[in-house]
Amino acid sequence: MRQKLNIYSMPKRLEEPKFWVEHIPFAFYLVSQLKPKIVVELGTHTGNSFFAFCQAAAENNLTSKCYAIDTWLGDKYTGPFEEEMYKNVLHYQQENYPTAVLLRMTFDEGLSHFENGTIDILHIDGLHTYEAVKLDFENWLPKLSDNAVVLFHDTQVRMQDFGIWKYWAEINKQYPSYEFKHGYGLGVLVVGKKAPVEIIEFVKNGNEYSDIFEKQGKEVYKEYRRRRLKADLKRLMAPHKIIAKRLKK
Ligand SMILES: C[S@@+](CC[C@H](N)C(=O)[O-])C[C@H]1O[C@@H](n2cnc3c(N)ncnc32)[C@H](O)[C@@H]1O
Repeated sequence: MRQKLNIYSMPKRLEEPKFWVEHIPFAFYLVSQLKPKIVVELGTHTGNSFFAFCQAAAENNLTSKCYAIDTWLGDKYTGPFEEEMYKNVLHYQQENYPTAVLLRMTFDEGLSHFENGTIDILHIDGLHTYEAVKLDFENWLPKLSDNAVVLFHDTQVRMQDFGIWKYWAEINKQYPSYEFKHGYGLGVLVVGKKAPVEIIEFVKNGNEYSDIFEKQGKEVYKEYRRRRLKADLKRLMAPHKIIAKRLKK
């Protein structure tokens, strides 16, 4: 039996870009409380959020099936991706979470892979315009289970034509919800009518707990910075090591 994780556990994977890292403690909490059968992520990029869900499921000894849907081609905000990045995500998944599934396709193509009423956690983090987010939510709504919680990332971002904030302002009135303001904003929407009482209580009293998640999110960000600096330093030192080896010969 593995060591159970909690919100103070550190993520195994922390990659660039940094945008999601401060929400990893909440991802750990949500998975441990909801015990999802199926988790679906729309928009995975290098996998900070996705592998946090996978880690939480594995370290809570859950049999959750986690699916990541992404073209891994990028979009108008991220810019185009190098093929190497997808290979890196795939390699990490195969090595660490062999039961997780990467669906390399558009979100619309992904729909046919899921039965109605089956998804317990849906994370919407694809194209960030109002129209795209609305479409993602409406397309995937029939797929959600009675337990379902939907996460929307970047609810606080108002640059360019980002429109999640606008869609969030509409949708959060229709279901029990809570919005974290840190880490670019994360909307938590409890869509399932039979969601666990702990989750309902959480969104009702989110303000009481948000400090804990924000503080721990900052700790994860510090760890992200530390690992990035270490990797940069290693790269910087690499040529010196080669020279030192040659001099020894
Ligand atoms: C903001 S990034 C995801 C960030 C990620 N969740 C993290 O933890 O860093 C958005 C991703 O959505 C993908 N994407 C955008 N629109 C898409 C669509 N319609 N179908 C499939 N992938 C899409 C992009 O390729 C990109 O990888």
